[in-house]
Amino acid sequence: MAKPLLAGNWKMHGTASSAAKLAGELADYSAEKPDMIVFPPYICIPGVVSVLSRSNIAVGAQNLSHFSEGAYTGEISGQMLADIGCSHVLVGHSERRTHNAEHSELVAKKFAAAQQSGLVPILCVGETLQQRQDKLQLQVIKTQIATVINVVGLASVCKAIIAYEPVWAVGTGETATPQQAQQVHGFIRAELGEQGLDTQLLYGGSINAKNAADLFTQPDIDGGLVGGASLEAKHFMNIAQQINEQK
Ligand code: PGA
Repeated sequence: MAKPLLAGNWKMHGTASSAAKLAGELADYSAEKPDMIVFPPYICIPGVVSVLSRSNIAVGAQNLSHFSEGAYTGEISGQMLADIGCSHVLVGHSERRTHNAEHSELVAKKFAAAQQSGLVPILCVGETLQQRQDKLQLQVIKTQIATVINVVGLASVCKAIIAYEPVWAVGTGETATPQQAQQVHGFIRAELGEQGLDTQLLYGGSINAKNAADLFTQPDIDGGLVGGASLEAKHFMNIAQQINEQK
């Protein structure tokens, strides 16, 4: 199993200077860390890449176009992101599925575009509250992943990273219980394992310094994708430390 991974999604917060300051604070932490990636807003990426070049922390983007280049006003391609120093990109985040009407077929195209540009996609999947109440969570996750497998193939999905982020837990302060998260992670691992393949599985959804330890004790949770608690270096590093203690 790969080294545990902690990813911080800064969403649409901050400015170029506050992002560079936060990156500098992260780079200054000397404690033993899991692998780490931060996802600043697009325009903050160059500054953050520059600050983090003195650390082992990688930088990714929160989104990309499914097109490689051309007359697509307002879009940013995977190649452009790789060119400015990104190594990873989020695809299928629930906020983009909800607010930007990104359906699973588009997510699959973005996933393929990311890999074609040499970026590692982090594929976000998760059920809504209604789907969980209807006990459909495993079916929903299976379908979301299968749509991507149909486009790029299972082996390519396993070279990426999957983040289970229940929609009802993202940005709400309500976290999945360790058992709820483990059930889905175990299910994904078993589904991929049937083909003899494996991938790194992150949990995301209101992770904070208080709930992190219990989540990371679960055997199939290989790391975290953190939103709100990644905006302060001390909270993010506290979570990093708890990953180190549990993994
Ligand atoms: P949250 O966000 O930690 O604020 O719930 C998680 C995410 O959006 O990846």
